[in-house]
Amino acid sequence: MKSVIPKVLVTRKIPEAGLALLRNKCDLEIYQEDRAIPRQLLLEKIPQVEGLLCLLSESIDEELLSRAGHLKVVSNFAVGYDNIDIAAATRHGILVTNTPGVLTEATADMAWALLLAAARRLGEGDRIMRAQKFKGWGPLYLLGRDITGKTLGILGAGRIGRAVVERSVGWKMRILYYDNKVNSELESQFSAQKVTLDQLVSNADFISIHLPASRETHHLIDEKIIKQMKKSAILINTARGSIVDEKALVRALGEKWIAAAGLDVFENEPTLADGLSCLENVVLAPHIGSATIQTRDDMAKIAGANLLAVMEGKKPAYLVNPEVFVK
Ligand code: GLV
Repeated sequence: MKSVIPKVLVTRKIPEAGLALLRNKCDLEIYQEDRAIPRQLLLEKIPQVEGLLCLLSESIDEELLSRAGHLKVVSNFAVGYDNIDIAAATRHGILVTNTPGVLTEATADMAWALLLAAARRLGEGDRIMRAQKFKGWGPLYLLGRDITGKTLGILGAGRIGRAVVERSVGWKMRILYYDNKVNSELESQFSAQKVTLDQLVSNADFISIHLPASRETHHLIDEKIIKQMKKSAILINTARGSIVDEKALVRALGEKWIAAAGLDVFENEPTLADGLSCLENVVLAPHIGSATIQTRDDMAKIAGANLLAVMEGKKPAYLVNPEVFVK
């Protein structure tokens, strides 16, 4: 009997470490352009494939999934999967996988990079230097905010939130966290205190978001919540843009309701809310939280292995909708 090699679509070039796992085992098609695959092309290709390895920037919704006659698995090259309609995938019997764990440290580093840059006004300083506007040291020049001994508020005490807290030890910070669940390790190891959202935002000097995007967290940080923050507060978001009402944040930063922000994620990527990029008191990064060589290699290996496992009839290591898996 002729063995059939499964057809797999990879929507953009990912590190070879992941592709190598699939090359001899699948009939692999990789979208070769260095940009997101056009939606129309994805819609045209989806009926022919059994495996899809995709990115967080692609919307894997009912329209797409209902055309997917042979699709067995959507392997998302990300830990977050808010780009995928999980309920629809489950209804269609399609497995969804993600890449948790390997990007925890890199993302926590990015949160701290933004926190430090926003607190010490590094973006402004860099722009001044490049424009050759530096006139020399000054006692009142470009004063930032101290971090040592301040209060760090973590929204979401999962893997990444915890890694951000671990990094705060050198700064001797008081830790508050907001989460549905008690994190007893965070409480015993870092004397972290579980508080309500209102308590967190009104007491923290630095607020760092580590929640998944969902209906519940959409615009969790809205105008009302931002207005409860200290005037000296600094907001960091390395999670998902939709958690913050970006228009409200632009007003808050422009009118100095809070001191500053550091953002790696945006509501309508790659577009920014009007006025955001004109503000001096925000540090902007182009969604590069997991963008280290090692991390992206590891993500590629996991995404490839997840996909391959399904093609071989095995349970993938990181399955988002396990109820779909039948042995
Ligand atoms: C990156 O944002 C991810 O979810 O992996």
